[in-house]
Amino acid sequence: MKTPVHIAVSGAAGQISYSLLFRLIGGELLGDQPFTLGLLEVPQSIEALEGVAMELTDCASPLLHGVACHSDPEAAFADADVVFLVGARPRGPGMERQDLLEVNAGIFSAQGKALNAAAKRNVKVLVVGNPANTNALIARCNAPDLPPENFTAMTRLDHNRAVGLLAERCGRPAGAIRQAIVWGNHSTTQYPDLSHATVDGRPALDCVGRDWYEQEFIAAVQQRGAEVIRVRGKSSVGSAANAAIGHMRDWLSGTPAGEWTSMAVSSDGSYGIEPGLVYSYPVEIH
Ligand code: NAD
Ligand code: LMR
Repeated sequence: MKTPVHIAVSGAAGQISYSLLFRLIGGELLGDQPFTLGLLEVPQSIEALEGVAMELTDCASPLLHGVACHSDPEAAFADADVVFLVGARPRGPGMERQDLLEVNAGIFSAQGKALNAAAKRNVKVLVVGNPANTNALIARCNAPDLPPENFTAMTRLDHNRAVGLLAERCGRPAGAIRQAIVWGNHSTTQYPDLSHATVDGRPALDCVGRDWYEQEFIAAVQQRGAEVIRVRGKSSVGSAANAAIGHMRDWLSGTPAGEWTSMAVSSDGSYGIEPGLVYSYPVEIH
């Protein structure tokens, strides 16, 4: 029997977690590797969280070796191997993600300190809560005893949006697309880049033309989150949980041979980006 690893999830009674947690216990992150779950919520949502924990137990997953609900971040993150920082307020219609900074920044400084105190030294932390790049920077700066490379922010949803929209335009399945890139921030300043992308091995720009790429595609990817909020009335949930699993699975198990994905990581100065910024790059993991 493999020793269980410990996965912590913040905002665990929220919408994204309600999709993420049930995919975790279905084995989509770690295959047959068993794990325990430390679920974190604010005190006023602990009762709702206990309901989620009941449902997780009721799935009778052979992978789940224990679930605990916490309102203390240090308790939730104790000996954590893998952490999803989802808990933060989402934006509503007409807001930019940076409007969330004031309310969400305090959460990530406290949780950075708790990770510093309690998590495994090789913990892998994915920040989903917005504004994700800035929150990852705040958490990392509050965890000086952990290596900076342990902190990442999620631009995988933007990457998947780029792949999905390109595939739709070409009338091909997403599996035909390789080597898309999202540079920068999980915000409207991000740059979805198709200059290396291929569709069935052909250059993507030969398939779709530069006019569509420059005049429609880039803005469509940059604005996709706002468009989902406009149409659905709430921010993305299922696609966000899917991206969080894809990001963490590639980080833990490696990207497919010869392919890359997009992840916001601490810049080492590559491509002229200021060292220390949490910035989305094309990333290969071996
Ligand atoms: P939600 O409001 O449904 O859930 C958030 C949960 O976090 C709530 O249950 C809340 O009680 C909890 N929470 C708040 N403060 C907390 C704290 N200090 N500790 C622990 N839990 C806390 O929101 P959601 O739809 O699940 O979205 C969560 C976040 O993810 C939002 O900030 C949203 O904008 C962001 N998001 C990011 C991406 C991305 O691509 N990076 C995609 C979608 C959503
Ligand atoms: C998204 O991109 O869907 C999320 O960041 C939610 C949002 O506010 O757009």
